[in-house]
Amino acid sequence: MKVLGIETSCDETAIAVVEGKKILSNVVASQAAAHAPYGGVVPEIASRHHVENLPVILEMALKEANISLEKIDAVAATHTPGLLGALLIGLQFGKSLAFALQKPFIGVNHLEGHLASVFLENEELEYPYLGLIVSGGHTHLYLVKEFGCYQLLGATRDDACGEAYDKIAKMLGLGFPGGPLLDKTATRGNPKAFRFTQPKVGECLDFSFSGFKTAALLFVQKQNGNTSQQFVQDLAASFQEAATNFLLDRLVKATKQYKLKKWAIVGGVAANSALRKKIAAVSSEYDCRTFIPSLPLCGDNGAMIAYVGSQYLKKGFASPFSLNAQATSELPS
Ligand code: KG4
Ligand code: ZN
Repeated sequence: MKVLGIETSCDETAIAVVEGKKILSNVVASQAAAHAPYGGVVPEIASRHHVENLPVILEMALKEANISLEKIDAVAATHTPGLLGALLIGLQFGKSLAFALQKPFIGVNHLEGHLASVFLENEELEYPYLGLIVSGGHTHLYLVKEFGCYQLLGATRDDACGEAYDKIAKMLGLGFPGGPLLDKTATRGNPKAFRFTQPKVGECLDFSFSGFKTAALLFVQKQNGNTSQQFVQDLAASFQEAATNFLLDRLVKATKQYKLKKWAIVGGVAANSALRKKIAAVSSEYDCRTFIPSLPLCGDNGAMIAYVGSQYLKKGFASPFSLNAQATSELPS
């Protein structure tokens, strides 16, 4: 069964064609250049670019998959969570396609897409597992019991990890999108140069990243405008060290608590070089198996949406054409 997946929850316009676990095409158009002058994603601009990009990306995805539109068996599109206007564009596009083709339509939760992204590349991962979503909008840790069944173990109390990366990168004048630029800058700095206190979230499995932002701002302010390249690299490295340590600390805590030795780390920040290196070391220390997507599947993409859509279809589920977009949502538990 060939499923077309559409993803427009933020600033990536993405369409993929997936058959089972096989990715036939996966096209992502980043809007980074359009948002860069503003230092962050402007929702209205994102929506307008999705409108312009979608027909072009659809052509590209079909061409790459070497398939005509009529050969698509079903259409899936992200309907929640995300920027409401951006979601509406992709959802409407997907529903219209499915309606015109007289094929089933499935609305997909973006978070479920990220959590399932690891299955596209791994035959060995089996339920249950600990799923950590680290992205620009979420830092959520789930006990994934089976497909469609997610127990939320902890979530950020303030900013998402990716948001902290983006804001600290902006403070340091690194540009947009901040996460990958800060990651690159950090590789040239000293991770012990500045001390970032680990967030105090008590015994639970929650996260918090706003304190890192405040600490970074205070370090920057102390420079009185004289921020050398060395300072920027050291601060980036020190924040990255603290943030990745914090993420791993939560995972290890959950592993001990739930006696589960399988981790899936997904979402844009899963592309982080320091996190990927540390995960390899920590998971072997605790005898855990880690599943982490390859870089193209860490960020937002249509393949993960198509895959989740195909799983729901297999269970005989399709969405009504009345399905609406929703800016926030929880996963089914
Ligand atoms: O999953 P994603 O593409 O979109 C959301 O669902 O939010 O994640 C985007 C986030 C952004 O905050 C971006 O800066 C961050 O992932 N990111 C990174 C890296 N690559 C992307 N953060 C740290 N290091 C990276 N290499
Ligand atoms: Zn995402």
